[in-house]
Amino acid sequence: MSDHTMTFRLGEGRKAVAPCTIVIFGASGDLTVRKLIPALYHLFKDKQMPPSFRVVGFARREKTDASWRAELRAGLDQFSRTKPVDEAVWAAFSANLHYCMGDLTDTAAYARLEALLTSFGSGPLRENLLFYLAISPSQFGIVAENVHRAGLLHQDGTAWQRLVVEKPFGHDLASAHTLNSELTRFATEQQVFRIDHYLGKETVQNILMFRFSNAIFERLWNRDSIDHVQITVSEKLGVGDRGGYYEEAGAIRDMLQNHILQVLALVAMEPPVSLEAEDVRDEKVKLLKSIRPLTPEDVAKQVVRGQYFAGTVAGQPRPGYRQEIKVKPDSNVETYVAAKLYIDNWRWSGVPFYLRTGKNLPLSASEVRIQFRRTPNVLFAAQCGDKLDPNALTLRLQPNEGISLRFNGKVPGTSLAVRPVRMHFSYDSEFGAYTPEAYERLLLEAMAGDATLFIRRDEVETAWSIVDSIRAGWEGKPLTNHEFYAAGTWGPIAAEDLLAQSGHAWRDPQPIT
Ligand SMILES: NC(=O)c1ccc[n+]([C@@H]2O[C@H](COP(=O)([O-])OP(=O)(O)OC[C@H]3O[C@@H](n4cnc5c(N)ncnc54)[C@H](OP(=O)(O)O)[C@@H]3O)[C@@H](O)[C@H]2O)c1
Repeated sequence: MSDHTMTFRLGEGRKAVAPCTIVIFGASGDLTVRKLIPALYHLFKDKQMPPSFRVVGFARREKTDASWRAELRAGLDQFSRTKPVDEAVWAAFSANLHYCMGDLTDTAAYARLEALLTSFGSGPLRENLLFYLAISPSQFGIVAENVHRAGLLHQDGTAWQRLVVEKPFGHDLASAHTLNSELTRFATEQQVFRIDHYLGKETVQNILMFRFSNAIFERLWNRDSIDHVQITVSEKLGVGDRGGYYEEAGAIRDMLQNHILQVLALVAMEPPVSLEAEDVRDEKVKLLKSIRPLTPEDVAKQVVRGQYFAGTVAGQPRPGYRQEIKVKPDSNVETYVAAKLYIDNWRWSGVPFYLRTGKNLPLSASEVRIQFRRTPNVLFAAQCGDKLDPNALTLRLQPNEGISLRFNGKVPGTSLAVRPVRMHFSYDSEFGAYTPEAYERLLLEAMAGDATLFIRRDEVETAWSIVDSIRAGWEGKPLTNHEFYAAGTWGPIAAEDLLAQSGHAWRDPQPIT
C-alpha cells in the first residue's frame, strides 16, 4: 500500500468474522451451485473466511456429503470466476461441506439438522448460524418457525443467528408486509438480512464514497446547481426463457422497485451521521419517503411503460415480447418503464429525477447522469445560443465502471466556437480489474453482521408503496400504440415525450470504445 492510499471500507473497524456455520436451505438449487458456493470458495481462497467454519446444505433430494461435494465441484468448473479451480484449495474448503436431507415442513428434519450442528461441538460452529434461504419466499415463514422451534434461532447475547433472504420480497406492499411479518415472528428485524445483489456491486458503494469524500461535487449536489438527474439501467437481453416469471413481474417489479430505487436513494440521500448500517439505511428510507406520491393522474403524465415488438439487437433478430415462451399473446406486461419523480425535500425541490429501465435495448449499461444547470446565456449567446451544452457528470455503474465529466472547451482556431469535451476516469485503468462477485461481498458482510448493504423492512415497504401507486395508475389500461418499441431501440416514443415536456432529452449510454 502506498503512502497515498488510504484504505477504508464500509463496516471498517468491525471485529474479525467469528467462526460460524452457514446453513443453506435450497442446497440442491440453482442459486447454490451458481452463486453461493463459488462465492464461499473464493472467500476461502482469498483467506477471508473465518478461521473455522462449516457449510451445511439442506434440501429434499437424496445426497451424501460426498455426492453433494462432487456436484458442487462440477458446478465450480462452470461457474467459478477464476479458472482453473485450485484443487488444493477446493480440497481444504470442501472438507467443511455437509449435507442434511429433509423437507422444509418436516420438524424431524430440523432435529437432524440440530444434531448435525451439535456434532460440530458446543462452541461457535453450533451457535453462530447464518441461515441462507435460497428457496421460494413462500417458504420463508415455515423455515423461520422451524429453526426457531428446533432451538436454532434465538438471541442470547453471546452468539448470533441470522436469516439471509433473497428477493423478491413480495410482489406489492401488502404481500411484502405479510412476508416481513412472517419472518419477524421468529426473528428480530436485526437478524434478517435481505439481499439485493446489486448492492454488493463495488460501484454502487462507490457512489457513497464519491459523494461524501469529494467536497467539489457535494457542494453542487442540490437544486441550486443541478437541473435534473437521469438514471438508466438498460438491458440488451430480452426475457429469454424467463417469460413465465416476467409475466408476473414486469420491468417495474423486476428492476425499478429494487435496483433503481436503491441507486436513486444512494445518489440523492442526505449524508448519514456515520457509515453504520442503521444510519445509512435511515437516510435511504428518508429519501424514499420524500418522493412525491403519484396519483393515477400523475402516473398518466409522469410514467411511461413500454413493451418490445420484434426487432434486431446488435444485428441479431429478436422476437416480440408477446411471441416469447410462456408469454400471453395479448400480454400487457411492461418490458420498459420510465418515470419522472420529484423528491420533496429541501435539497431537491423542483429537480426532476428521470428513471428508466428496459429489455432489448441497444446495450447493457447502468448509468447515473447528473445534469447541471446552464450558465446564463450571455457571453456566448451569439455563437452558441441554446446549443451551449450544460455540464454533466456521469457515474457509470456497469460495465466499465467510471466517472465522466462533460464541460465546454474552445475549439482551437480563430473562430469562437465552443464544443463539449469530456474528462474520463475509469476504475479499471486506475486500480486494475477488480471483479469479485457481489455475493462474495454480501456473504462476508452477513457473516460479519454488517447490514449496511442489506435492505431494511421499511425500505422494502416504502419502495413497494411507490411501485403500487404506479401500478394503480395502469390498472385496467391496456398498452396503447405509442407505448410499443422495436427491440434494439431505446424505448417507446412516449418516453422521449416525457422529457421533452420539460425541455430535456435522454442521454443514452454509449458503447465504450
Ligand atoms: N438462481 C438465481 O440466480 C437467483 C437470483 C436471485 C434470486 N433468487 C431467488 O433465490 C431462491 C432460490 O432460487 P433457485 O434458482 O436456487 O431455485 P431452485 O433452483 O428452484 O431451487 C430451489 C431449492 O429449494 C429446495 N426446496 C424446495 N422445496 C423444498 C422443500 N419442501 N423442502 C426442502 N427443500 C426444498 C429445492 O431442493 P429439493 O428439490 O432437493 O428439495 C432446491 O434446492 C428463489 O427465491 C429465487 O427467487 C435466485
